[in-house]
Amino acid sequence: MAKAIPFFELNTGAKIPSVGLGTWRADPGAVADAVTAAIKAGYRHIDCARLYCNEKEVGCALKKLFDNGVVKRGEVWITSKLWCNDHAPEDVPESLGKTLQDLQLDYVDLYLIHWPVSMKKGSEGYKPENLTQTNIPATWRAMEALYDSGKARAIGVSNFSSKKLGDLLAAARVPPAVNQVECHPVWQQPKLHEFCQSRGVHLSGYSPLGSPDAGTIKTQVLKNSILNTIAEKLGKSPAQVALRWGLQMGHSVLPKSTNEARIKENLDIFDWSIPEDLFAKLSGIEQERLVKGTVFVHETYGSYKTLDELWDGETSDA
Ligand code: A2P
Repeated sequence: MAKAIPFFELNTGAKIPSVGLGTWRADPGAVADAVTAAIKAGYRHIDCARLYCNEKEVGCALKKLFDNGVVKRGEVWITSKLWCNDHAPEDVPESLGKTLQDLQLDYVDLYLIHWPVSMKKGSEGYKPENLTQTNIPATWRAMEALYDSGKARAIGVSNFSSKKLGDLLAAARVPPAVNQVECHPVWQQPKLHEFCQSRGVHLSGYSPLGSPDAGTIKTQVLKNSILNTIAEKLGKSPAQVALRWGLQMGHSVLPKSTNEARIKENLDIFDWSIPEDLFAKLSGIEQERLVKGTVFVHETYGSYKTLDELWDGETSDA
């Protein structure tokens, strides 16, 4: 039997498994096998989003796993996210409805506002003229209604700076439980980490391996020399050290893989730890945000004229 996955407790009292399978850029055709392999390997957390265009296939895999008695619904944590073109309050329940239909579920464990960015209803792609003015408090009130209905057992945000999270906390009736952001040894976000911790918001790290095909050689997380030296010393892979760093910081981590061996490797991070002296060395890694959000910034359209406005100063030099 697979070992129980350690968890973090959210401000709702719910327990989020500390490792989840990421499904961003997991092609339909590969994602069902990945979800099946992950659950069989012991994962109990799948991170989805409407944007990823593969929730239907994730849903088919989950249904088979439930029907075959491999796992029960209540034992698996499912997250999904509201896309930017459904921010109007009246569109929020409909959007979750479509996600639930595709996933073949009655509820999600966590529902997130994917970006603090609004786009025209029905628009597709990232054309600047699709960008509209955000009204996060209004969208959040619709998210709160989903929480009240039980269709989203926890609600939260993604890609929010400390400032935007603070503004939301000031306006919210139901405080966000999670802020899911890019987080890995090359983009550690210490300021955001501290803010989240001080306000009881759990930080969940996406692209915890730095999406190896993204970034320049300089910023490729798994090729980082400090990380590789530590991995060699510990007899672990660079990916395992990057993930273990996240856990030891108190973050849940969401590595994406469609390869069975790597899916298993990414879960083998619980019965060892990075000793303090080596852990301290990781904070010396040169920092750079890899997921910059450039497509959400425009001088004429939308709410943000510059990346500095989108991230409230928490940009690459922060
Ligand atoms: P693959 O799906 O072929 O395993 P991130 O989660 O940071 O976005 O990274 C996802 C990328 O990292 C994917 O390209 C994935 O490829 C690759 N990957 C996942 N696990 C590992 C691993 N243990 N070692 C190296 N690359 C990995």
